[in-house]
Amino acid sequence: MTTSLKIEQLRAKRDQSQQGGGEARIQRQHDKGKKTARERLDILLDPGTFRELDAFAHHHNNKFGLERNKPLSDSVVTGWGTIDGRLVYVYSQDFTVMGGSLSEAHAAKIIKIMAMAVKVGAPVIGLNDSGGARIQEGVESLGGYADIFLQNTLASGVIPQISVIMGPCAGGAVYSPALTDFIIMVKDSSYMFITGPDVVKQVLNEDVTFEGLGGASVHGSESGVCHFVADDETQALTLARELLSYLPQNNMEDPPPLPATDDPLRTESALDSIVPENPNQPYDIKKVIELIVDDGHFFEVHEDFAANIVVGYARLGGNAVGIVANQPMVLAGVLDIKASVKAARFVRTCDAFNVPIITFVDVPGYLPGADQEHNGIIMSGAKLLFAFCEATVPKLTVTTRKSYGGAYCVMNSKHIRADLNIAWPTAEIAVMGPEGAVEIIYRRELQEAEDPAARKRELAAEYRETFANPYIAASRGFIDDIIEPHNTRPRLINALQVFQNKRDENLPKKHGNIPL
Ligand code: HXC
Repeated sequence: MTTSLKIEQLRAKRDQSQQGGGEARIQRQHDKGKKTARERLDILLDPGTFRELDAFAHHHNNKFGLERNKPLSDSVVTGWGTIDGRLVYVYSQDFTVMGGSLSEAHAAKIIKIMAMAVKVGAPVIGLNDSGGARIQEGVESLGGYADIFLQNTLASGVIPQISVIMGPCAGGAVYSPALTDFIIMVKDSSYMFITGPDVVKQVLNEDVTFEGLGGASVHGSESGVCHFVADDETQALTLARELLSYLPQNNMEDPPPLPATDDPLRTESALDSIVPENPNQPYDIKKVIELIVDDGHFFEVHEDFAANIVVGYARLGGNAVGIVANQPMVLAGVLDIKASVKAARFVRTCDAFNVPIITFVDVPGYLPGADQEHNGIIMSGAKLLFAFCEATVPKLTVTTRKSYGGAYCVMNSKHIRADLNIAWPTAEIAVMGPEGAVEIIYRRELQEAEDPAARKRELAAEYRETFANPYIAASRGFIDDIIEPHNTRPRLINALQVFQNKRDENLPKKHGNIPL
């Protein structure tokens, strides 16, 4: 064969590898409102930067008619490209080829780019749209999944891993996304479950839809499996792009700073009156965050899950920070099982990737009750405590109002290695709220009082006057400074600069034993 014929052959094969499952199946994909694997990569990556690998790979299965159907590239497109000029490895499952099902060859392609990503220290983004294990294969496919799970686990905490679910993700296939740092799902067209509606019907005789069992809304608000719910595919991919902007390429680097677009010395007088006079009246902690961070832009994670705690990314003076904040608007900002797990996960993600953590505290304590106790609030609460204790990134705390009981210790207190703890004059730091406190310490007196309700009010006011302020904590050095709220932004930006080269580490060990 002449060289020019060889080149023609290459072009033909390359062309073939780009066809996916053919026009009819691509049309079917579009009819469902879904894009193809390659169209999605075009949106995700900077234009013209995608470099494909393994376009000539195919499966090696010769059973069930597959010997006559060996599409080049198989059912996943892999390679590298850039996002905002930064290197990223990607895989995009191609539903038009055998339902994006995972063959041995498909798995090998994913494992190859993951190994490269770890070697050069770059994030991996996986676009998932797959009918699961290739049914015509057997243990080769299952082994492929297990190989990916191992790579996900070994890469965890080394490079950021993001999973975008854009179609089916069922059975064991859910565990690769679950092992990654973030899951983004698309409303109405993606779902994740261990067993589908048919099996649920057979085993439990329950009727449930795909969406009701494992759609984006369910995982975004009930289970917490998914961190972001997107309205459509384009939004999901845009979210992945922005998410990466707050993260470093790997655990040896810091997140990339952006030129500051907002005055670092900006004060905000609205903060001086944002906490209501009545301690039982809520206010929106997201407003506080937005008034403080650069350009008022807060990139919230897990927005609809455990809304009594707020977590997400923002910038201060151009530098990425992770924010953890009790939300007085929801359940008075109490810590419960879901809130503890949500925040613990976020704190560990920040710490793994060198993102400083800023904690805003307004917490009445842990949620009491048999339901919480029986479902393990002790272990869940301990997760958050463990996460804050072990974190060595710069840790700053602002106490805006309540900081009661065990929640005081947990919410990034001085005692667990916070670097700077500042309080607003509205802070109340005590073992418990005044009403609860007087009921215990004055139980007998209240029983004997002529007007118990009036006496209780009196004693509670006295307790509040004595303990419900930041000055006792400040007198012990547990609070470093009490500031006027309008100064919060410049104070935090200054502290971030001071602690940016902070050195702190945990003792060498195989790994800690976080209470799971
Ligand atoms: C091979 C598959 C496939 C699979 C779909 N296809 N799933 N081929 N292996 N797992 C093929 C179909 O034959 C069809 O081929 C094309 O993909 C599109 O499938 P449709 O059924 O027409 O699409 P749709 O109606 O959208 O339904 C999508 C679906 C359904 C809900 C995902 O295909 C389905 O239920 N698939 C099987 C899911 C499953 O049980 N997977 C195994 C799970 S167990 P043509 O040629 O017609 O285009 C598992 C274990 C993992 O994954 C364990 C890891 C530890």
